[in-house]
Amino acid sequence: MLMRKPQRLQKLAAAVFTTMDEARKRKLATGADVINLSIGSPDLPPASHITEAMAQAIRDPGNYGYPMKDLPAFREAVAGWYQRRFGVTLNPDSEVLGLTGSQEGLAHITQALTDPGDLVLVPDPGYPIYTAGPVLAGAELHPVPLRAEHGYLPDLEALPEEIKQRARLLILNYPSNPLAAIVRPGFFEQVVAFARRYGTVILHDAAYSELSFDGYRPPSFLETPGAMEVGLEFNSLSKTYNLAGARIAYAVGNARLLGLLAEVKAHLDYGLFRPIQTAAVAALTGSQQCVADMAATYQRRRDVLVDGLNRLGWAVPKPKATMFCWAPVPRGFESSLAFAMELLERAGVTVVPGSGFGAMGEGHVRIALVQSEARLAEAVERIDRSGILDKRAA
Ligand SMILES: Cc1ncc(COP(=O)(O)O)c(C=O)c1O
Repeated sequence: MLMRKPQRLQKLAAAVFTTMDEARKRKLATGADVINLSIGSPDLPPASHITEAMAQAIRDPGNYGYPMKDLPAFREAVAGWYQRRFGVTLNPDSEVLGLTGSQEGLAHITQALTDPGDLVLVPDPGYPIYTAGPVLAGAELHPVPLRAEHGYLPDLEALPEEIKQRARLLILNYPSNPLAAIVRPGFFEQVVAFARRYGTVILHDAAYSELSFDGYRPPSFLETPGAMEVGLEFNSLSKTYNLAGARIAYAVGNARLLGLLAEVKAHLDYGLFRPIQTAAVAALTGSQQCVADMAATYQRRRDVLVDGLNRLGWAVPKPKATMFCWAPVPRGFESSLAFAMELLERAGVTVVPGSGFGAMGEGHVRIALVQSEARLAEAVERIDRSGILDKRAA
């Protein structure tokens, strides 16, 4: 039938996101002021030396052909930044690959590394592309539960032996979206041992490596001895430099794995617009003060929101990293979706129901720190006034 929706796309239907989005639009249509704490898109501007570099490159008529390959300067800038930030040495020619956003790389990596039916271990709850990529590639998914009592790290030993034997890929993300969880020292060493034992490729998404608080500095997976032999790390300029709309990121790590990803991409795209790569070079090689300022801004926002909600009696933990808070659904609500809908209705505040990130996300909502301190303070006040936290008593 002409209009048939293929099964792979049907499997991706994210009902929770659609329901929330429609509800938000309905609310806005009534003229209500909605404080949107549901999106994970930075609201801060990039530093001026970054936009200046892009503006200059935009005026160069030589920058309008198909870029094809990454600019050597871009790959060198990434390698230099990894060396300075993590002490990780990368060969710019073979161990760095530019991406049109890490979303793009994470979407295509399963096509590069799996055959239909291969097994991919994905975090649950986890960022949606970790499941969408394998589904689009026809791979089989095995959600690995992330539990608070295990520090939101996967308990790899607890996986059934048959699953471990079949695991072709293991996807990890620390600091994590939506959990705002951080890695415990020694965990990445266990992951490398697992990868070696079972022949599993490790994909680590480090999109929030620079968005951390209270002096905490997230490590790179590639710092771990042996990591370069078993995996890749994805990192992005979207959050670190407020360049989400420019779509520039990169994968680093094992040359053979990167070569396979580059091969898939050669069929799909013709490279990254050069002025954007030039902006990325300016970002990665220039002063990192803008990164420190960005993290400090999110830390202040986190304090306004979490301290405020805690004062209301809502026990939201204070994250050490990311732009998210992972908040338990207050008692008295049958689901994270029911709570999020009522929060929108009564307080005009939107958050994401945890169930949108996997079955294990039920019981929580994700709150994004993507509004000013004043707006976040207002959100706290509205939540207080709405009486929604008193529902149990009601
Ligand atoms: C954990 C995580 N990985 C990847 C991405 C995608 O980032 P990019 O803009 O590099 O595609 C996001 C965006 O929100 C994210 O939260």
